[in-house]
Amino acid sequence: MRVAVVGVGHVGLVTAACLARWGHEVVGMDDDERKVATLRSRGLPFHEPGLADLVEEGCRAGRLRFTGDISEALSGADVAFVSVGTPSLAGGAPNLAFVERVGQAAARHADGDLVLVEKSTVPANTGIRLRQVIQREQARHRNGARIDVASNPEFLREGQAVVDTLRPDRVVVGTDSERAAAALRAVYRPLLDEADCAYIETDLVTAELIKHASNAYLATRISFINAVARICELVGADVEVVAQGMGHDHRIGPHFLKAGMGYGGSCFPKDVDAFLHLARSVGYDFGLLDEVRKVNHQMRELVLDKLRAELWHLEGKTVAVLGAAFKPGTDDLRQAPAIWLAEQLLEAGATVRVYDPVALAAVKEQLPQVECVDDPLAACRDAHAAVVCTEWHEIARLDARRLAATLGYPIVVDGRNALDPAAMRAAGIQYHAVGRPARATDAP
Ligand code: UDX
Repeated sequence: MRVAVVGVGHVGLVTAACLARWGHEVVGMDDDERKVATLRSRGLPFHEPGLADLVEEGCRAGRLRFTGDISEALSGADVAFVSVGTPSLAGGAPNLAFVERVGQAAARHADGDLVLVEKSTVPANTGIRLRQVIQREQARHRNGARIDVASNPEFLREGQAVVDTLRPDRVVVGTDSERAAAALRAVYRPLLDEADCAYIETDLVTAELIKHASNAYLATRISFINAVARICELVGADVEVVAQGMGHDHRIGPHFLKAGMGYGGSCFPKDVDAFLHLARSVGYDFGLLDEVRKVNHQMRELVLDKLRAELWHLEGKTVAVLGAAFKPGTDDLRQAPAIWLAEQLLEAGATVRVYDPVALAAVKEQLPQVECVDDPLAACRDAHAAVVCTEWHEIARLDARRLAATLGYPIVVDGRNALDPAAMRAAGIQYHAVGRPARATDAP
């Protein structure tokens, strides 16, 4: 198939490279000229394990190329995936203007039958609006091409995006057009021939809702175990063991029960807000999701409170922030708890050092006031405390005694329960985790 991918960010570029791996002829398009130039010179605009090789493979095979011109991308395409940004507006609604623009461009430039596919996460009923825009624009430009709309939401996690696309748990396709359904079956045929994954065909709005419901549920699980962690701190229980005890129940499962500073990233915060906004717009007050959001924000406040409780005043103190990316495996700082914490510390007059194995360039750009250090122990040298914000293995494997000998004050707040409490305390460190019992002799 000839496939256009409009928007080659974290979702679009992975989708484009995997489509090329499946033998399709793919044109990736972006209106960010810098991004297109980077890709054309065989660079990657962001860190994602396995993606560089996949892009290289597609380009070498002549099945993947990039352009800044949407008419070139759409010309001759059988299918066009819309993977543009849908950032949150004030009030939580997603900004769908970029999605609309792609619909208008398709109506203007499609030179043959085309299936326009929502890959970006969009609220229910977006596809209906997109179809309306296309019909109006086609009438305006007297373009007689047949353009059908479908929803094919992505379920990829940053840091595991290539694996999640090549080996998905499920492919969801929503459309009211048999022609579009057939086209997408042809797109995914190579995947379905080699992988054992569910293929769900439904209508547009149901497919759109599956995505929002999935992400909102995952965020709910995280806030649930974080609320349990708060209770564990009050009764002296260990949330890590509670999560284990829960996870052995096959109806619960062990995944997404890791307590800590809460979720960040470009998806969960935005998708929870968008789902809340959608629910309210159709008359349902999704209070449960309000609580999910509230608990999530409380977790980063909790870690800051633990730090304040140990340090008394933050002004004039040096704090090592260990881990900046919103999770291991990526250099993405969007909604990262570490960035929020660093900003609070700077505002309080503290000196902030940041270590991250992958995201330091992004930190330098976003927070020029912090000192970026490319070694975790060096970041801790003579610091008054260290705070773990991302559970990179370079941080999780830090030697407790060396940490104690390097820190100015032996204080560690572990926002991701990444370190071993017994080893920390044996080394004389005042160690505070999330939802794990603090020994009676610890500071308040
Ligand atoms: C998420 C969904 O997992 C993915 O299916 C969807 O397509 C996009 O959004 P992503 O945001 O890349 O993917 O990362 P994910 O691994 O889900 O983690 C999201 C956040 O939750 C991270 O900040 C992570 O630290 C946090 N998290 C995750 C927890 O705090 N506890 C957990 O148990 C799991």
